[in-house]
Order: sequence, then structure tokens, then C-alpha cells
Amino acid sequence: MKAPLRLAFSGALILLVLAGAILWLTRPGPGGAPDAAIALPAGTRIGGPFTLIDDQNRPVTDETYHGRWLLIYFGYTFCPDVCPTTLQTIANALDRLGKTSARITPLFITVDPARDTPSVMARYVRQFDSRIVGLTGSEPQIAAIAKAYRVYYAKETPKDGTAYTMDHSSFLYLMDPKGGLAALFGPQVTAAELAAAIGQKLGQDK
Ligand code: NI
Repeated sequence: MKAPLRLAFSGALILLVLAGAILWLTRPGPGGAPDAAIALPAGTRIGGPFTLIDDQNRPVTDETYHGRWLLIYFGYTFCPDVCPTTLQTIANALDRLGKTSARITPLFITVDPARDTPSVMARYVRQFDSRIVGLTGSEPQIAAIAKAYRVYYAKETPKDGTAYTMDHSSFLYLMDPKGGLAALFGPQVTAAELAAAIGQKLGQDK
């Protein structure tokens, strides 16, 4: 195939795969309602060691949160829609969990460390919930944790010279106290679904 044709073909193929993935992720459960948690193929590794900086400007690693349940979300503070909605969902789910929420540390990790300094992160997360911890770091530190959690992100610079945005995948990761993935949720998850699924997982770990 000629190069432009080949490019168009691989573009179409990528779109097809993406559409398939979206359909699969949003497929209805047995009861007709979408499943709150997403099943991953067996053997998919998510997570691992990291080194970052928290919103109080302190260095943190995975060891800092050892023995805690983590609810991790990747995004950025300039995000116009999905990030604020998801952080509000997290805050509402924590409220629904009541006392159980004390066993979880919700982490909001930026994919835009150039703008999301520790103080920017601190101001932002507090708008949603004082329990949410904002994490940032150097570009390589963010790239490393994004890779470990299979997070896609890319800078989008508009031609009109307005501020750039970040294209990014939007999943919620519930990590167990040993650092393993306990559940994965899509951005459409409701606070009620999230709280129910988290409550169930934590209930099994009394
Ligand atoms: Ni976002």
C-alpha cells in the first residue's frame, strides 16, 4: 500500500479497536445495568513502586501508603470536564462510605506536572474533599507511574495559541493494602456504584 493509504488504513483499524474497547467497557451487565467494575484480562499487571511529591510538597513513595487501601485517579487541574466530575464522584462515594472511608486514601495524580505544582494540587483537591491527596512530580516520575498504571496521556496544543489541554485516559483504580489492583472503574461510574463496590471489597478484608 502507498504510505497515505497505509496511514488511513491503520487509522481506521485503531478507531475500530477503540470503538470495540469502548463497547466492551460500557457493555451491560447480566441485569441490564452497566457493571460498576471492569474486568481485566488475567495476568494484566497494574501498579508498582513510585516516587512522587504530595500536595504539601513532601516526597512520597508507594511505601508511604503501605497497608492502606488506595483509590487512584489520574488527571490534571485544568481539565474542563471529566476530572472535576470524577473527583466529585469520589468525594460523594467517600461520604456514602461513612466511617469505612477512613481506611482509604484517595490519590489524584496529575499528568500535567508542568502546571500542577504541589500548591496548585492542594488548592484544587480541597475544593472537592479534604481527604483527597494530590500528587505531582517530575516529568519522568509522572511518566513512570503512568506507565505502571497503563495510563495514556498526551499534550494537546491548540493552533489558536490558547492554553494546552491534556488528553488522558480516565479510570479509577482501587488498590488493596498489598499494592494489588482490587477493582477498576470507568469514568461513568456513579458515586453509589463506587461506594457499593468499595464497601464490598473492604468488607471482605476485615
Ligand atoms: Ni481530565
